[in-house]
Amino acid sequence: MIQVAPSILSADFGNLGRDVEAICSAGCDLVHVDVMDGHFVPNLTIGPVVVSSVAKCATKPLDIHLMVENNTFFVDLFAPLKPKYISFHIEEEKHPHRLIQHIRSLGIKPAIVLNPHTRPESVEYLLEELDMVLLMSVNPGFGGQSFIESVIPKATRLNEMRNILNPNCLIEVDGGVNDKNIHRLKEAGVDVVVAGSYVFKHASKKEAIESLQI
Ligand code: DX5
Ligand code: ZN
Repeated sequence: MIQVAPSILSADFGNLGRDVEAICSAGCDLVHVDVMDGHFVPNLTIGPVVVSSVAKCATKPLDIHLMVENNTFFVDLFAPLKPKYISFHIEEEKHPHRLIQHIRSLGIKPAIVLNPHTRPESVEYLLEELDMVLLMSVNPGFGGQSFIESVIPKATRLNEMRNILNPNCLIEVDGGVNDKNIHRLKEAGVDVVVAGSYVFKHASKKEAIESLQI
């Protein structure tokens, strides 16, 4: 079954604790936290002070998605919060292999994110070291954008690669995911989806999450 990680970027930040508790009791699998620095992406979100409050309210593990320039600095900043995953963008990292090892040494599962233009082959020689690859299906920076269709053949290709090189490495897709594209994502071999606006704008968070857990 596909795991669902609602993105708290679409939550009501004035009632963040309430919204985090709501998605957890609605049956989500992970809590997706988008960390943006205003440099790698043209938006700025939250730091460790806010995320530590999120961690206290969450009864599901955190999935931290870094969209930042200085990955190692941010990994070390968020590691004490003990997230399940930390993912970083390969486009912004000179030494991804070293950073994967560093994240693992902190007791956290390492993941790499690929922007819409980045080829799945860019992680070929890293796959054996990774717990997850996150494919962006929108340009990073904002919630509520439309789904970029080319992620489907890309996930299909990555699925072939990981089945050979590391079947334990999960494939996650982030951006514009809803009940219209979830079946095609499942067919392409996707294991985890991030969903922000679809879950938070739905009349029932539980129904929204369950409609993606196929
Ligand atoms: C975009 C973020 C996503 C975003 C998804 O940079 O990485 O996690 O919040 O939101 P939706 O599901 O609304 O596209
Ligand atoms: Zn994200």
